[in-house]
Amino acid sequence: MILPIYTYGHPVLRKQTEEITSEYPDLQTLIANMFETMYHADGVGLAAPQIGLAIRLLVIDLAPFKEDDPELGAFKCVMINPEMLEMSEEELDGSEGCLSIPGISESVKRSEWIKIRYYDEQFNEKTEEFEGFKARVVQHEYDHLEGSLFTDHINPLRRQLIKSRLTNIAKGKAKCDYKIKSA
Ligand code: NI
Repeated sequence: MILPIYTYGHPVLRKQTEEITSEYPDLQTLIANMFETMYHADGVGLAAPQIGLAIRLLVIDLAPFKEDDPELGAFKCVMINPEMLEMSEEELDGSEGCLSIPGISESVKRSEWIKIRYYDEQFNEKTEEFEGFKARVVQHEYDHLEGSLFTDHINPLRRQLIKSRLTNIAKGKAKCDYKIKSA
């Protein structure tokens, strides 16, 4: 089932999220719905706050990059209760967008590599290191669980330049071809 995506300005995107257990109601259906919602909106990552749930759950699928980079394209994962263990001091610039902030993409500095612990959809505990673009996507989605958005990381001048567009999104004036829910 395709769910509406909550957009910039909705308070749920700023809420502290809570850990879940394997007893969380209809968890597998929720995960399937998150993937379906993300694919429908042509995204490569989606975090639970973006569908209105303040819980520590995110999904990622980099399949759209399969042709350019098979290894990257094969990266698909579900992270439950992730905890960032380490982040490199070295940072890289890269362009980011967000399904909750339609029509805006900006350069964001992210750690080049990270180490993260999480549970997969079967509640197997995993500790993994990611680098480059994978690390970027994981950091972006992880940020959603911390109530943070990529626009929090861009330089103040750029933020000033996109301020009116962000205000429009917050007012529910965002134009996009997937279902959204504004504050
Ligand atoms: Ni996002």
